Amino acid sequence: MAVVQCLHHPSPPRADAAPRLILVIMSPLATLPLLIGHRGARDDAPENTLAGLREAARQGAAWVEIDVTLSRDGVPILMHDDDLDRTTDGQGPVNDRDWAEISRLDAGRWFGPAFAGEPVPSLATYLTLVLHLGLGINLEIKPCAGRDAETAARALDVARSIWPAMRPPPLISSFSVASLKAARDLAADWPRGYLMETLADPWSIVADEIGALALHIDHEELDAAKVAAIQRTGRKVLAYTVNDVARARLLFDWGVAALFTDRPAALAAGLGSGSGA
Ligand code: G3P
Ligand code: MG
Repeated sequence: MAVVQCLHHPSPPRADAAPRLILVIMSPLATLPLLIGHRGARDDAPENTLAGLREAARQGAAWVEIDVTLSRDGVPILMHDDDLDRTTDGQGPVNDRDWAEISRLDAGRWFGPAFAGEPVPSLATYLTLVLHLGLGINLEIKPCAGRDAETAARALDVARSIWPAMRPPPLISSFSVASLKAARDLAADWPRGYLMETLADPWSIVADEIGALALHIDHEELDAAKVAAIQRTGRKVLAYTVNDVARARLLFDWGVAALFTDRPAALAAGLGSGSGA
């Protein structure tokens, strides 16, 4: 699962020498930063919206994490909850509404009047802006019950039609093993992260099966021994959701590779320069 990048090396200082083509083999997670904007920049803009993405970029985040689910008619959209109620002016299960209805909802006013009129983005629209802003992304597949494989398939179909082959690919994660197996089968070359609230057996066997390069765990469930156990399997550890500077330092000391945070700029500032947010 490597990304091959072709770089044109500057010509050597000989008039008759042809430009040299250098092949660089990159790990799919080579560009993973220390800090990832959780649902965009969740403390400062409505989660899983274009405004949140712009805010994360403004704060200097190099990557964002988003939650992807399906409308009733199978359009991949950004939404964390099963229901529309908390983050939009709609009601009831997301999966009971077609995209035409969801696209008319307000996903910003609940957060603050300055964000009134902010729509629920489709995954296609969101990824287009991610590319325009030059960010990296972790797509968390968040299926409703019974649509695990379908949600991964439709999300990957959209993402692979948009994402340029020469850009480091999105990191695909999920709590759903069925979604991750579908992602493995449909996009074997895109990296996968196995999301777990806590490190529960047989995590290592499942991670092998889905070809996970990383485990994404609730930071409150981690300790130095668990981080070391995951690292011994050759995988990276990503921890969610970390907004406290002292906790972030401790997690990095244990060897955690990256943190999901609701406030990328504030956490980066607290950690000092070079935090990679
Ligand atoms: O992907 C990390 C984190 O977002 C997982 O939990 O509930 O915030 O989607 P949740
Ligand atoms: Mg998430």
